[in-house]
Amino acid sequence: MKRSSVLAFFAAALSACASRPAAPAQAGRAYFVQAGCAACHRIGSSGNAVGPDLTMVGFRHSPQWLDMWIKDPQAWKPGTLMPKKDIPSDARAAIVAYLAEQKGQAWPKGGRPWDGVASAAERGRLIYLRAGCVACHGQNGAGGYPNNNVPGGQIPSLTGVSEGYSRADLIAKIKSGVPSPAKADAAGPAPLVWMPAWGQVLSDAEIGDVADYLLALKPGAASDGW
Ligand code: HEC
Ligand code: HEC
Repeated sequence: MKRSSVLAFFAAALSACASRPAAPAQAGRAYFVQAGCAACHRIGSSGNAVGPDLTMVGFRHSPQWLDMWIKDPQAWKPGTLMPKKDIPSDARAAIVAYLAEQKGQAWPKGGRPWDGVASAAERGRLIYLRAGCVACHGQNGAGGYPNNNVPGGQIPSLTGVSEGYSRADLIAKIKSGVPSPAKADAAGPAPLVWMPAWGQVLSDAEIGDVADYLLALKPGAASDGW
């Protein structure tokens, strides 16, 4: 953005603030672009795929976790490619409010990335990536993502589900999720990341497609992008 257009943008943002009560989520959208988040993340059809798609991020994470992650990604996941940015706390709160609202409504109507894709295997792969399973279970289900106060300290990898689950049990698990993962230390805090109940946002057919994708996963597959 050129300097003059940046100034015009802020002038417009300021006058919008003056004329109506503050809408943090709306301001958050501007901060999200301004802080360079869209250089790596997609929401709906805009942004880049250098990191996870955030179109449904408000469905899969709590505002509390989002705030902690954005404040210092390395503190939660050492080695992550997501940079730590010094964002003032009110701007960060607005970004969190904007992200917390993202529950899939930014997909163009009837145009979710997997809609109309003929191959069931490809639909399953696209759901895994774009609905955001990948953000917690890793590329190709390889795992490596932390959680607090859970046995082993990590969200499970999914490369072994074909051994542990029947197709029907796998579908049931994905549909209902695990709202309160078992704690490692019963007296310790609740885990901050849980398995969402995907039946709230995905149809039975979509859950069947992603289950088939998981059943075909093999350990050690090459990176599959975001
Ligand atoms: C250089 C690329 C890059 C930039 C810039 C970036 N991120 Fe990320 N982000 C990532 C990557 C990669 C991950 C996945 C974490 C991992 O695999 O280590 C991630 C993960 C996330 C997640 C968690 C996704 C999920 O569903 O679990 C959120 C939320 C997020 N980023 C928000 C932001 C925000 C807000 C900004 C701007 C302040 C931002 N990111 C800037 C690369 C980036
Ligand atoms: C916000 C993080 C998050 C996202 C996104 C997520 N999961 Fe999970 N998932 C978890 C956690 C945490 C567990 C472990 C639950 C427990 O304690 O039993 C889990 C468990 C599972 C399991 C059971 C694994 C096992 O070893 O028994 C399956 C299968 C699974 N997830 C599939 C999916 C699919 C498919 C998607 C996308 C549609 C998805 N997950 C998205 C966090 C997530």
